Amino acid sequence: MTEKDFIPRTYDTFIEKGRVTYKSPSNIALVKYWGKKENQIPANPSISFTLDACATITTVIFSKMESEKDSFSFDLFFEGKPNEDFRPKIETFLDRIEVYLPFLKSYHLTIETSNSFPHSSGIASSASGMSALALCLMEMERKLNGQMTQAHFIAKASFLARLGSGSACRSIEGNLVQWGEHKGTQGSSDLFGIKYPYEVHPVFEKYHDTILLVDKGQKQVSSTVGHKLMHGHPFAENRFAQAHENLSALKGIFAKGDLDSFIKIVESEALTLHAMMMTSQPYFVLMKPNTLEIIQKIWTYREKSGTHVCFTLDAGANVHVLYPEKEKEEVYDFIQKELVLYCENQQHICDRIGYGAKKLN
Ligand code: PMV
Repeated sequence: MTEKDFIPRTYDTFIEKGRVTYKSPSNIALVKYWGKKENQIPANPSISFTLDACATITTVIFSKMESEKDSFSFDLFFEGKPNEDFRPKIETFLDRIEVYLPFLKSYHLTIETSNSFPHSSGIASSASGMSALALCLMEMERKLNGQMTQAHFIAKASFLARLGSGSACRSIEGNLVQWGEHKGTQGSSDLFGIKYPYEVHPVFEKYHDTILLVDKGQKQVSSTVGHKLMHGHPFAENRFAQAHENLSALKGIFAKGDLDSFIKIVESEALTLHAMMMTSQPYFVLMKPNTLEIIQKIWTYREKSGTHVCFTLDAGANVHVLYPEKEKEEVYDFIQKELVLYCENQQHICDRIGYGAKKLN
């Protein structure tokens, strides 16, 4: 598929007004996307668990205007209140996707959005937010084109979400989504995420992710700046090659349910992401002392308990603690007794692997 496949021909229906709501989850990458080319094309393929509890709910109310405008006409509400802070981001997004949704300037849009996770928790809302908005706009397009297949709807929603925020393209479906061309993965594409197409052992079906909120402050480095740091980075080429290798290795690991090998890849990916930031120019350390305390505690506990708890990190100090369903009681007990004291006000979010975005009535 190419970008051209997402440019619609003419629409067969006309609609005056309507309303659509989607709930879309966040996701946590196991193999990380860090570095991009022009037009949000990833420098390497990535794969993530779709989450469940951390989600954005977005409603788009649309009404046809008398004539098409030169600019986008929209109002924005965040958690029930008018919000101007997100306007530039939405404007850029609409600008990028207009060629694929040519009706956008014919409608006035009221966009209402809210997150299930606490505001300023240090959790990035761009994946859930951009995927929820992309889905609402696709639902509008589906109303204009009754012939659209479900497969096209899903692929294009992911394609559009990617143009808002790269990792958002992995939030449309569940429960494992891969994005980026990888020669070992049939159907993989740089343009949109796909549901992981190979065998996955049941041990991964109900994986848990307890997110420890170590630092709820604003991100020190935006992902836009972060991705740029990979241009001319001395280790970039090796890192991109490593992501391909890790994805290839995961194929057997997912099929067999080999948790020991899974842990080695997931933790190494998290530390590599941070190593890339520590070795770029300018350089950053995004972990906090408590991030390292938690990592040490996890390693000691895993050794002692024989469980399969492990960690991963985003581009920040918070820690995602991953563990299988069958160990959930003992691992959560450990988290409560030994890890939550390292969180700001003991705050943490109990999430788990999820099954993708949902349309709400
Ligand atoms: O989607 P972006 O541009 O915010 O980048 C996300 C990058 C990481 O979260 C650090 C890794 C990933 O693959 O999600």
